[in-house]
Amino acid sequence: MSLLRTLPVEDVLARGERSSLQRRLTGRDLIGFGIGVIIGTGVFTLAGVEAKEHAGPAVVLSFLIGGIVAALAALCYAELAASVPTAGSAYTYAYATLGELFAWIIGWDLLLEFSLGVAVVARSWSGYVANLLGLPGQWFGEDAPINLGAVLIIAVLAVVAVAGIRESSWLTNGLVVIKVSVCVLVIVAGLFFFNGANLDPFVPPARPPEASTGALEQPLLQAVAGIEQSVYGFGGVLTAAAVVFFAYTGFEALANLGEETRRPRRDLPVGLLGSLIACTLIYVLVAIVLAAMIDYRQLDEGAPLAAAFQTVGQPWVAAVISLGAVTGLTSVMLVNLVTIGRIGFAMGRDGLLPQRISRVHRRRGTPHLVTIGAAALIALLAAFVPISELSDMVSIGALSGFLIVCVAVPVLRRTRPNLNRPFRAPFSPVLPIVAALACLYLMANLDILTWIRFGAWLVVGLAIYFLYGIRHARLATGEPVDT
Ligand code: ALA
Repeated sequence: MSLLRTLPVEDVLARGERSSLQRRLTGRDLIGFGIGVIIGTGVFTLAGVEAKEHAGPAVVLSFLIGGIVAALAALCYAELAASVPTAGSAYTYAYATLGELFAWIIGWDLLLEFSLGVAVVARSWSGYVANLLGLPGQWFGEDAPINLGAVLIIAVLAVVAVAGIRESSWLTNGLVVIKVSVCVLVIVAGLFFFNGANLDPFVPPARPPEASTGALEQPLLQAVAGIEQSVYGFGGVLTAAAVVFFAYTGFEALANLGEETRRPRRDLPVGLLGSLIACTLIYVLVAIVLAAMIDYRQLDEGAPLAAAFQTVGQPWVAAVISLGAVTGLTSVMLVNLVTIGRIGFAMGRDGLLPQRISRVHRRRGTPHLVTIGAAALIALLAAFVPISELSDMVSIGALSGFLIVCVAVPVLRRTRPNLNRPFRAPFSPVLPIVAALACLYLMANLDILTWIRFGAWLVVGLAIYFLYGIRHARLATGEPVDT
């Protein structure tokens, strides 16, 4: 069965040792990259929107649930990242456990997640910056015929990503300091306007929505199970958890830095879990403060956090929040671009994409060809297509990657029981199975349109695999796979 041929784990480990990428990152750099890619606009917008639309003050619980699901997946990522450090992360783990077809599907899916992540974020970056600096809407706004702001920021960040992993890390760390400070400021300033009465009732009673949504905008689960649409109540808390999960996506990008980390076996688990715990804490505190500041029914849907501070007479905090959002968006895009380079590099190295693209820059030590090529395609997309509504595609892409990683953990424990595992996910196989089911549940809460788009992307991917990858894979041509 050539579709299910697997990469030997020893070969993956051997070529990781001899990687042409350069080992320059420490554990601290990884935490910086992690927070860099996790905190974006999610928390600044979704906390308010979901409190108003689905969960009320219990949006705090939604963030907690989202954080727990992300942490379960992160434990599985940490086990695989520490025992098989590789630039391909979930793609390579799938190649070594479930087989080539699964690996291709997941690699293709990750390219979608991170590319759309950059394109979606670039357009909202452009809007924020235009707002902040008073730049002309016809070049920077959502209605611009060519979104110049989005193209410019992608070009600048692609140059940084190619310049080197240290350079990318420095810029990310700087941006992280700014945005974490903004979050801390929001929490502290918000405490001065804490009104416990706004938290009561914490979980508003469930009721039917005011306006019913279109058939394709309905969550898949509701449509399949024929569940009545409702808002608030515990069901509302879970719906909001699926949406705010977007705010946690991205941390898995760290697992792609396995060939650039000095001590990957120790530092990758630290980076993955450390950054996620820090961000969960920040998110939950921001959500508590927001819910206690303003009655959830009065929250603004465009920029809820900033508007809440305007309502309580603190417009300067609102301005600082915009700064936090812009720095957050910049670091999310940078880490995503770095990650696309590593996934493309790994897929090219295996021959599933043209091997040329995995060439590494002699001095810079970065996969420059695939980074520049991907950035050019993404810039083209972001320049012309209004894609802001595609953020759910990022969530479905991330969740399906998590699903495969959670399945891969018990599979590898069974096929390779003696593999050196410096970090072990606790309670395997129960924990990975619960994590996989939780990811599936959140995926089922995304709307039908997102599933249709995701299906279309996979069909295109399968066509490319059967026309190209299946014959050019190193495992098919007989080339050695350990170099
Ligand atoms: N987690 C990132 C955000 O919240 C994508 O924007």
